[in-house]
Amino acid sequence: MRVQVAIIGAGPSGLLLGQLLHRAGIDAIILERKSGEYVLGRIRAGVLEQGAVDLLDEAGVGKRLHAEGLVHGGIELCFDGERHRIDMAGLTGGKHVTVYGQTEVTRDLMDARAAAGATTVYEAEDVSIHGFDTDSPVVRYRKDGVTHEIACDFIAGCDGFHGVCRESLPANAVKHYERVYPFGWLGILADVPPVSHELIYVNHPRGFALCSMRSRTRSRYYVQVPLDEKIEEWPDERFWDELKRRVDTQAASTIVTGPSIEKSIAPLRSYVAEPMRFGRLLLAGDAAHIVPPTGAKGLNLAASDVRYLSRALIDHYRSGSMKEVDAYSGKCLRRVWKAVRFSWWMTSMLHRFPDTGEFGQKIQETELAYLVGSKAASTSLAENYVGLPFED
Ligand code: APR
Ligand code: PHB
Repeated sequence: MRVQVAIIGAGPSGLLLGQLLHRAGIDAIILERKSGEYVLGRIRAGVLEQGAVDLLDEAGVGKRLHAEGLVHGGIELCFDGERHRIDMAGLTGGKHVTVYGQTEVTRDLMDARAAAGATTVYEAEDVSIHGFDTDSPVVRYRKDGVTHEIACDFIAGCDGFHGVCRESLPANAVKHYERVYPFGWLGILADVPPVSHELIYVNHPRGFALCSMRSRTRSRYYVQVPLDEKIEEWPDERFWDELKRRVDTQAASTIVTGPSIEKSIAPLRSYVAEPMRFGRLLLAGDAAHIVPPTGAKGLNLAASDVRYLSRALIDHYRSGSMKEVDAYSGKCLRRVWKAVRFSWWMTSMLHRFPDTGEFGQKIQETELAYLVGSKAASTSLAENYVGLPFED
């Protein structure tokens, strides 16, 4: 079999790339290790920058997002027992973010791909990539005991942090930058109305907390926990008690609690692989970088990589030139590093670190007080949160 582009991974990166290429008349196959239901079962991020919304519109999958997504023009920061609003729209000339779960984005993209009749091979085993340093790369995989081979022009490595693509590179071809944080986020999803109509990011001596949502009737809450914490030790009651101890008294008295429908612990990590292109292999999304969720940038960075990658491939097939493919890694990484910096900064300012003590807590509270009191500092947070501009 032969295709123009072989996409590895059917997460948001792979599916969005597939849809944009399909609309441009470029032939692509997607190979995914897991089943479709498994991919949809993963609960992840929920905040989309305008640039990501625009790209989903361009891919023709924006309808439900516009109908059901919640448009937010601000966030709240809670510290020293008080809440302060950052007016993101007012500080950025009217920019907003849209709260719409990654699961829903994935579902919309899967539906669009099925409607287009484009091929996704789910439960593809032992995917391997070959010859990406030549002009004729090959991808192999096994399905139902039969080995298949696909010849292609390009391989898009959209296979996440634990994927096969980055792993297939020679060790000396890639430089890794990494910071692992000494805590995780315990998150729950519950069918209860959110405590506030905007997100609340909380700095508290007991640790960070976040009040988020998926809809007007579904809430997503997180509390910072030590890395070795066991989920079994967190019955719902304990979670709600801990959350209430960290938020301000008004929020604590109005939070509506209820049974969790999902509960998980995620470690926090910053990671970047450079470069993002090796010959005819191009990495996108979590395959190339991870950010801690505090800046709400993971899904947005995946979308921005895919924006650059789809444009580069479309330009190549229209003009025959490799100019945009050559520029891909540099363009992505300049934007990636800015989001990595922002996510690291938000994480550093809002979490309790084991080694910084009461001095660290005071410095954080002072930074937050400066931030909410200074238009210059608030504008810096706001313009990063709504999403920095693209290079075109
Ligand atoms: N072969 C085929 N598919 C694979 C392989 C493999 N060897 N390894 C991983 N995959 C699949 C995974 O099963 C997953 O469905 O690749 C997909 C990668 O999807 P994601 O991990 O969601 O990564 P990405 O599409 O880049 O999306 C980034 O996800 O983790 C969040 O914060 C992140 O929101 C961001 C988004
Ligand atoms: C979420 O709703 O899951 C969420 C929102 C904002 C973040 C991280 C996660 O910064």
